[in-house]
Amino acid sequence: MTTPKKLFIKTYGCQMNVYDSERMAEALGGQGYVETQTPDDADMILLNTCHIREKAAEKIYSELGRYKGLKADKPDLKIGVAGCVAQAEGQEIMRRQPMVDLVVGPQSYHRLPEMEARTRAGEKALDTDFPEEDKFEKLKGRPKAQRGPTAFLTVQEGCDKFCAFCVVPYTRGAEVSRPVDRILAEARDLVERGVREITLLGQNVNAYHGAGPDGSEYTLAKLIWDLDKVDGLERIRFTTSHPNDMTDDLIEAHGTCSKLMPYLHLPVQSGSDTILKRMNRSHTADSYLRLIERIRAARPDILMSGDFIVGFPEETEADFQATLDLVEEVKYGYAYSFKYSTRPGTPAAERPQVDPAEADDRLQRLQGLITRQQRDIQNSMVGRTVNVLFEKPGRLPGQMGGKSEYLHAVHVADAPVGIGDIAPVRIVDAAANSLAGVID
Ligand code: SAH
Ligand code: SF4
Ligand code: F3S
Repeated sequence: MTTPKKLFIKTYGCQMNVYDSERMAEALGGQGYVETQTPDDADMILLNTCHIREKAAEKIYSELGRYKGLKADKPDLKIGVAGCVAQAEGQEIMRRQPMVDLVVGPQSYHRLPEMEARTRAGEKALDTDFPEEDKFEKLKGRPKAQRGPTAFLTVQEGCDKFCAFCVVPYTRGAEVSRPVDRILAEARDLVERGVREITLLGQNVNAYHGAGPDGSEYTLAKLIWDLDKVDGLERIRFTTSHPNDMTDDLIEAHGTCSKLMPYLHLPVQSGSDTILKRMNRSHTADSYLRLIERIRAARPDILMSGDFIVGFPEETEADFQATLDLVEEVKYGYAYSFKYSTRPGTPAAERPQVDPAEADDRLQRLQGLITRQQRDIQNSMVGRTVNVLFEKPGRLPGQMGGKSEYLHAVHVADAPVGIGDIAPVRIVDAAANSLAGVID
């Protein structure tokens, strides 16, 4: 018997990269690889990268630099770069770090086994094509293993929206939806392996328009209703959504589909209409607020989350104030805010930039407001009973941790529950990032 080769994968960026890393590990499993948690004993190191902000992209080169010693000690070690930096920078990566053996863009992962074999033969392998075939169908590899109670499932990929600041349409390509029957088969397979909650993923997941089993075009809501019928699947979530694709049937599903969790990530980016227009977002602050009113009418307890960019080119103090006003009005359970990062090749990169110190100051003010809102909402959970899906043992003996329907982290001391159980928990205390409760 040959000893298995060891694969170390490090994942950056969004949930879609997490999903892709799992698929790549499975595909390389077919090539005799097993995963390892450290680069030190690896035969192959694969970085699954993110290009969304400059810092994220540059981090990859310093990370690669750290592997120089390992590669010198072990010339057989193969180093690969996957993900959005691979797509955006391609050959440039091998030029800057000649020890890299393999560069593979997100749409070419099904070619990874064959590319790995080429590196074993001493060649360099680069593939950043946008091929036609369904990479996920061809990525099936390893025998089925039992897994934890939550899983990601990519249903849609790519983006046609071209927001003026964003690299995703360039790194992930045009919007593509996977067919319904393949998604359902994958969901059933996940449930057989112990999964109870599935988060459907897409860069614009609510623009989903995959082919149904009868050839008709499905909306995301229709897909959710089919998943609702999968026995053993208890919870459905989806991310990330664009305000313009929140269709009526999807809003309605939030009120009527009991497996669909009351949590919605709906990025708005700015509260200023001038900035939203320059961002090419094609919605206004007011249309976004009215949309949230409709969503809350369907599901009053839904927890909203969002993304914000501060310091977008030409953003004034008044524009920024409009963002603060919008945040005050929505009351987010979670919100992620970023300082604008100039991305080469995007239209906003050409516009007059905001003074970095000013942008830093705005980011701090926005984050202060968001933190206060989050804390208020966490505190308001005390005394309420939520349903918790238990995912793992907590840090203390006998403690179990999981997530509520609102995605709050909840832990319970001496919990008479197992991993994968869903149980009602009365919240007794709120800390900065988690809630404590007792089984009700
Ligand atoms: N598809 C999602 C978001 C994808 S990127 C959407 O349309 O909302 C995730 C988040 O990164 C974005 O919501 C945005 O807030 C942030 N982001 C994207 N490009 C950025 C840039 N150039 N600088 C700073 N933040 C950026
Ligand atoms: Fe980027 Fe805009 Fe597409 Fe979201 S909708 S991925 S922010 S271009
Ligand atoms: Fe980053 Fe690519 Fe996701 S740029 S956020 S890894 S789609």
